Amino acid sequence: MKLGVNIDHTATLRQARGGVDPDPVAAAILATLAGADSVVCHLREDRRHLQDRDLHILRQVVHTRLNLEMAATQEMLEVALMIKPEVVTLVPERREERTTEGGLDVSSQIGKLKDAVETLNASGIEVSLFINPKISVVREAAKTGAQAVELHTGFYADTRDEAGRDSAREDVRSAAIAATKLGFFVAAGHGLNYHNVASIAAIPEIQELNIGHSIIARAVMVGLPKAVEEMRYLMER
Ligand code: PXP
Repeated sequence: MKLGVNIDHTATLRQARGGVDPDPVAAAILATLAGADSVVCHLREDRRHLQDRDLHILRQVVHTRLNLEMAATQEMLEVALMIKPEVVTLVPERREERTTEGGLDVSSQIGKLKDAVETLNASGIEVSLFINPKISVVREAAKTGAQAVELHTGFYADTRDEAGRDSAREDVRSAAIAATKLGFFVAAGHGLNYHNVASIAAIPEIQELNIGHSIIARAVMVGLPKAVEEMRYLMER
């Protein structure tokens, strides 16, 4: 199973001070050295975390696979055609949301998504659609010509009671089976962390997990002791 590491939240931390640290480009290189199969990033319309500069440099330094999450807007299509990531994941985007909240509403915009897929494919860019884990949505996604789907695991991740969580996992599993039958490459992601990843990783039809927040959050914690030691050393020297 492949792991795509989403590095957006290193940029969130940088933007909190408007400076240069930490650099998401460095995070992408370190994640790759540590074994990530791809680097995932989301260039949002409001540029709240990742910046255009980051994407340009990421394209130069990521030699595995660069997966650009973006809305299917004219502006973003132009960016994608210039950057040429290996994969574009089309996601819904609402300015006021804290993070991508739901999957794409595929049925109401099949024509628009189909056009975006055609445009991107013509430049050699594969397209994945971020969708809710429902068989009916998977079937709609098949009408767009996309190569992959990414199943939204946020509902699974956010459900606290065991029965609800089992049922949300079952939704992901049945959507993954349906997507595989339709010939899609199947990815999943959103809200996956060190406690809940195992049962999603155990679904054989899922070929890739895209994980961001929990990995960056853990990096802050496991890196903190060393960071404090290094500061103490400099102070005392
Ligand atoms: N996949 C998609 C399509 C996303 O939008 C995000 C969040 O940017 C992720 C995966 C990663 O989610 P998380 O940061 O919760 O791991």
